[in-house]
Amino acid sequence: MNEIETRMQAALDQARQALAGITSAADLEECRIRFMGRKGEITALLKSMGAVPAEERPQVGRTANRVKAELEEAFAAAEASLGQAEVATATLDVTLPGRLRQVGRSHPVAQTMDDAVAIFRRMGFVVADGPDLETVYHNFDALNTPADHPSRDVADTFYLPDGRCLRTQTSPVQIRVMESQPPPVRIVCPGRCYRCDTPDATHSMNFHQIEGLYVDRRVSLADLKGVLAEFAREMLGPEVKLRFRPHFFPFTEPSIEYDFSCILCGGKGCGVCKHSGWLEISGAGMVDPAVFTAVGYDPEVWTGYAFGMGIERIAMIRHAIQDIRLLYENDRRFLAQF
Ligand code: DAH
Repeated sequence: MNEIETRMQAALDQARQALAGITSAADLEECRIRFMGRKGEITALLKSMGAVPAEERPQVGRTANRVKAELEEAFAAAEASLGQAEVATATLDVTLPGRLRQVGRSHPVAQTMDDAVAIFRRMGFVVADGPDLETVYHNFDALNTPADHPSRDVADTFYLPDGRCLRTQTSPVQIRVMESQPPPVRIVCPGRCYRCDTPDATHSMNFHQIEGLYVDRRVSLADLKGVLAEFAREMLGPEVKLRFRPHFFPFTEPSIEYDFSCILCGGKGCGVCKHSGWLEISGAGMVDPAVFTAVGYDPEVWTGYAFGMGIERIAMIRHAIQDIRLLYENDRRFLAQF
């Protein structure tokens, strides 16, 4: 190796060392100018090739080409690793707070409905389903509702131009199930109902009910009371008591309304139970023989009870919610509490 080759090799080593220490694009550029610029060290050495004796020139030329190639490689490698480091520092900000995941949860009405269904299933009830768009026959006629009953009024029920209606209760599912199978029957029907009501703190045009129907031989009101009392205890706690009051529904005889003792005051009387100690839940009764006749069951052989309850009402009692409209506004600050 002659002197010029030795200097070339030394410049290459220096360049490599310098490149190993760079931390920015500006450093890299400075290096490039220092070694490869027009007045750079290697450039100067390449220019001085003219002074090399002719017989040594091929050998020095090969060294010059190798040094140039290695130098370019070293610069390319330095540039690549600098790019990666810059990308890494740009995206990894360890002071950024973690991303909060929005965790979905089921709506309080859905939770209450699921719980109600689970309780009745444990007692041997099977879930049945029916359409939201019902025939007037299933929603009213087969349920023994007189032609002049006020609930049929257009001011109370949503009718479609084709004569059907949006079901006002889950009771028509009773009819559909009995039409489709022989007794015995033990079903619950969870679902949406629709009524032409003006929304206020306790009314909504769209709400949910769960309906129950049990048909067998020798079914009594005491069976109904037992099932509803068990439901009340499982849904609201072991202390809850049940009360029946006489009432009227076209599809049951006798008919009752039932109340649960107020869980908020323990029955002593408070604002929620209007100082009565009792919370009105819904209606029930023994299936009217006219309903059995409508579905082709022999009312001399079969007996049964039926009940229906509003799910929103139970959700509101469980969570001490004062206004039913809160359940439909989808305000996530409200929903996140359940
Ligand atoms: N369908 C009634 C309503 O919406 C509730 C009801 C009462 C259902 C008595 C029943 C029943 O099955 O037997 O007000």
